[in-house]
Amino acid sequence: MLRGSLLPALLLVLLSCAAWAQTPQSGYVGSNVCKTCHADVWFNFYKNPHYKSIASGKETPQRAGCEGCHGPGGAHVEARGGKTTIPRAFSLMQPKAVMDACLTCHAGNFDKANIRRSEHTQNDVPCTSCHSVHHSATPKFLLAKKQTELCYGCHANIRAQFEMPSRHRVNEGFMECSDCHNPHGAFAPENRMADRPRMVDPGLLNEEPCLKCHVDKRGPFVYEHASVAVEGCEACHSPHGSMNSRLLRRPVTATLCLECHNGSSFGIRNAGVDLQTATHNLLDPKFQKCTTCHVRIHGSNSSFYFLR
Ligand code: HEC
Ligand code: HEC
Ligand code: HEC
Ligand code: HEC
Ligand code: HEC
Ligand code: HEC
Ligand code: HEC
Ligand code: HEC
Ligand code: HEC
Ligand code: HEC
Repeated sequence: MLRGSLLPALLLVLLSCAAWAQTPQSGYVGSNVCKTCHADVWFNFYKNPHYKSIASGKETPQRAGCEGCHGPGGAHVEARGGKTTIPRAFSLMQPKAVMDACLTCHAGNFDKANIRRSEHTQNDVPCTSCHSVHHSATPKFLLAKKQTELCYGCHANIRAQFEMPSRHRVNEGFMECSDCHNPHGAFAPENRMADRPRMVDPGLLNEEPCLKCHVDKRGPFVYEHASVAVEGCEACHSPHGSMNSRLLRRPVTATLCLECHNGSSFGIRNAGVDLQTATHNLLDPKFQKCTTCHVRIHGSNSSFYFLR
């Protein structure tokens, strides 16, 4: 009887000792202490969204203010500075450690993003390549530079694609890369058969981002064009820009159609339609302007052949 009640009591004493001992050892000193030596950072911090963790006064020391990111500052202050005395000196950290630090609080932001497996993560591009906590160029999202310039900083070859005759007007400032991409990574949308997701953002509806703006192409149509519904818009369009009209991948529409409509075999790519059909020979010059007759090329509610 006595033994039975002593054991849990002893455990309780041990546990509370451990908790007690942790408080002084933890080394959290609070953000105000940092002001003396880092006045420049400190006096700009009230504008930072992370300032809320100080202002609310409700966060645990582990999650509040400067130490929420840099870790307990006791030893650093005692040593009167130094890079190696602060637990998280980002200038000394490997990409993976940077991500782990940010994700202690931000994992929840990325439920819909595949951040651990994104092309950026896999190529060691951490959060701090794009976000600058103390020296951001944009008030929103703490970006290190204005978005397009930020992305072109590493993807210089993409800029020229947005200068082609047919293009989405990104360089003119009407659209941003993030209208179609999630730089934090993405899962492949349902209607896109691609070798890699390429961080194309499937949004909340798990579809190609194109449909957010081009809603008339969404369907569902009574008569779907299998290529649109299954292979996705990129089967026929270059998403950034093209030398051809309407962002088409081929200068002559017929060549585009014949990539699949060549009767060579059945399957998604090869639509299995004979070049010589009952109505027309697809190779006959008279029929080269396919979309003058097949006007509802993205799908139709009244014509199996997309004629109206
Ligand atoms: C949200 C995380 C975060 C918070 C909160 C934070 N920092 Fe930083 N700090 C960083 C990162 C990341 C860097 C690396 C440089 C960069 O990316 O801007 C950095 C760099 C620094 C530097 C190096 C010099 C510089 O200007 O880059 C100092 C000093 C510093 N922080 C002090 C502080 C102080 C003081 C506070 C509280 C007022 C604080 N930090 C709050 C993330 C944070
Ligand atoms: C007594 C002065 C002093 C105080 C107080 C102080 N620091 Fe520092 N801190 C320094 C000095 C000096 C350096 C520069 C070390 C260097 O560049 O070699 C530094 C560097 C840093 C760095 C930069 C590490 C990097 O990546 O280059 C961070 C982050 C930092 N301090 C955070 C803090 C935080 C958070 C606090 C408050 C908890 C704080 N400091 C309080 C003096 C101080
Ligand atoms: C390749 C560049 C890039 C990298 C790497 C990156 N971000 Fe972002 N992040 C952005 C851009 C651009 C936006 C703004 C998106 C928009 O305009 O919709 C953003 C927005 C955000 C937002 C606010 C909107 C949201 O989605 O909740 C948070 C929080 C964020 N990033 C945190 C992080 C963290 C944490 C990491 C690392 C684990 C990270 N980011 C890595 C570019 C990046
Ligand atoms: C201690 C928790 C914590 C850590 C660690 C942390 N953040 Fe945050 N972050 C927050 C909170 C809280 C917000 C504000 C969310 C809000 O406004 O509702 C925020 C907001 C942001 C935003 C959005 C700004 C906006 O305009 O919407 C970005 C970007 C961001 N953090 C990036 C980072 C990066 C990069 C790191 C790592 C260097 C980091 N955070 C580390 C808690 C944290
Ligand atoms: C610090 C450099 C850096 C920045 C800034 C950056 N990226 Fe990247 N990005 C990379 C690297 C490295 C890769 C992987 C190698 C590659 O495919 O080029 C990559 C890959 C990608 C891919 C996938 C490419 C593929 O072939 O699968 C896309 C899409 C992408 N980035 C978009 C963006 C967008 C949008 C932004 C701006 C919000 C951005 N990147 C900012 C370095 C960067
Ligand atoms: C209209 C939507 C859209 C916009 C806006 C957009 N992208 Fe893309 N991007 C895509 C799609 C879709 C793919 C995948 C193409 C494929 O799989 O054939 C892609 C592919 C990529 C790739 C990998 C393939 C390649 O060409 O190297 C990179 C890198 C990239 N985009 C970067 C960017 C950058 C940087 C911006 C902003 C300057 C941007 N994208 C704006 C839709 C877009
Ligand atoms: C943020 C809205 C938005 C998104 C997302 C978007 N577009 Fe567009 N798209 C436009 C606008 C606006 C135009 C009109 C052209 C302009 O800006 O001058 C356009 C034009 C086009 C054109 C016709 C171009 C021409 O030369 O007539 C095609 C084709 C097209 N988009 C396909 C796509 C594809 C494919 C995607 C997805 C990879 C996509 N769009 C994503 C807004 C968007
Ligand atoms: C089978 C090939 C094919 C596929 C797949 C395809 N398109 Fe098209 N699209 C075309 C052709 C061909 C034209 C030019 C029509 C013409 O000549 O008038 C066009 C024109 C457009 C235009 C400009 C004219 C208009 O109708 O508004 C937009 C916008 C467009 N497509 C968006 C999309 C989107 C979004 C997707 C994916 C949901 C998509 N396309 C998938 C072949 C295709
Ligand atoms: C990426 C491959 C692809 C491209 C490119 C393509 N199609 Fe198709 N198309 C298909 C598939 C698959 C079917 C469904 C065939 C079936 O069900 O037997 C189809 C069906 C059709 C049909 C309906 C008749 C039928 O047999 O179902 C017409 C008409 C048609 N396509 C015209 C065109 C035209 C015109 C173009 C060029 C603007 C084009 N297609 C480009 C794959 C493609
Ligand atoms: C002068 C108008 C016209 C032009 C131009 C035209 N078509 Fe057609 N196409 C039709 C009509 C009408 C049908 C319906 C046939 C039927 O009723 O049996 C059809 C049927 C089809 C079919 C379905 C055939 C089958 O056997 O199931 C395909 C695929 C097709 N066209 C593709 C094309 C392609 C690719 C081009 C361009 C190279 C093209 N068409 C040009 C009028 C046209």
